[in-house]
Amino acid sequence: MYETYYNLSVAPFHNTPNSRFFFETEQHREALAKLEYTVRNKRGFALITGEIGAGKTTLIRTLMRRLGSDARIAMINNTRLDSEQLLYMIAQEFRVEMPPNADKATLLRALRSFIEHEHQVGRFVCIIIDEGQCLTIDEFEEIRLLTNMETETDKLVQLLILGQPELRATLKHPRLAPLIQRICMYTHLNPMSFDDMTKYIAFRLVRASKGRPNVDFSREALRSIYDYAKGVPRLVNLVCDNALLVGYSNDTRLIDSAIVKRAISQMLPNFDNQMADLFEDDPIGEQELDDGRRI
Ligand SMILES: Nc1ncnc2c1ncn2[C@@H]1O[C@H](COP(=O)(O)OP(=O)(O)OP(=O)(O)O)[C@@H](O)[C@H]1O
Ligand SMILES: [Mg+2]
Repeated sequence: MYETYYNLSVAPFHNTPNSRFFFETEQHREALAKLEYTVRNKRGFALITGEIGAGKTTLIRTLMRRLGSDARIAMINNTRLDSEQLLYMIAQEFRVEMPPNADKATLLRALRSFIEHEHQVGRFVCIIIDEGQCLTIDEFEEIRLLTNMETETDKLVQLLILGQPELRATLKHPRLAPLIQRICMYTHLNPMSFDDMTKYIAFRLVRASKGRPNVDFSREALRSIYDYAKGVPRLVNLVCDNALLVGYSNDTRLIDSAIVKRAISQMLPNFDNQMADLFEDDPIGEQELDDGRRI
């Protein structure tokens, strides 16, 4: 809507995990390097935890783009599946042909021969679990058994697990000790520092622009964004997107602190105002909004 006004070709703060907009803070760079190392050196298991909206899915999308045709990838998201359904889903992700009523033994056989074949032709095979906090202990065990395949030197299946911090509690379960012992890389993604956030905003504006973005954020505006978003990229995007809209409707290309505050006050839910009280005694409990925040 406001793109042309600011000399942008696309909306710069779209909240999708688009790898084209991937910004490498030091910790994102390190996490990406660890994931890529795990896959390319067939080390087996890597684990990334991170706060809500910290950039885990964006990281994975970027890794997938980097690996390109070097890897075959099964991406497992939110699941509540029994072990056969889970194996069936993995087979589907790998595009292994399967009759819909295949039993577990058939599924395992087909998956194993797929994995061996890919190994022989020199491609990496990865199972990526995003939203790992949603998986049950049984699902983790099932996947671990599948990833047991190894030669004397290499793991044939690389398992990358990403999830919100509560995932660590699931993984502590004694039944998952064999999985934990095999994790060779671990990183926790924290929200960005103020400096990183400032560079992040500039980076996304340039990425989205035709030549040079025709908009400036004042230092105070950046401070106000940080005060609200605390360096969480998803929230930074949300505030910046709204601030650009407020700037546009006020016909100004200088985003100052007043504009940011106005943008924030128009965003719901704002936990700092009385709206938050409305949710306090909610008997339904916690809910997740489209933008990822929980109320
Ligand atoms: N390093 C980054 N570079 C560019 N954009 C990023 C980065 N990290 C996060 N983002 C932006 O923030 C948004 C939220 O990131 P993402 O969905 O990857 O978070 P997440 O950690 O997977 O969140 P959740 O815990 O809810 O699954 C993304 O849509 C993306 O636009
Ligand atoms: Mg995610």
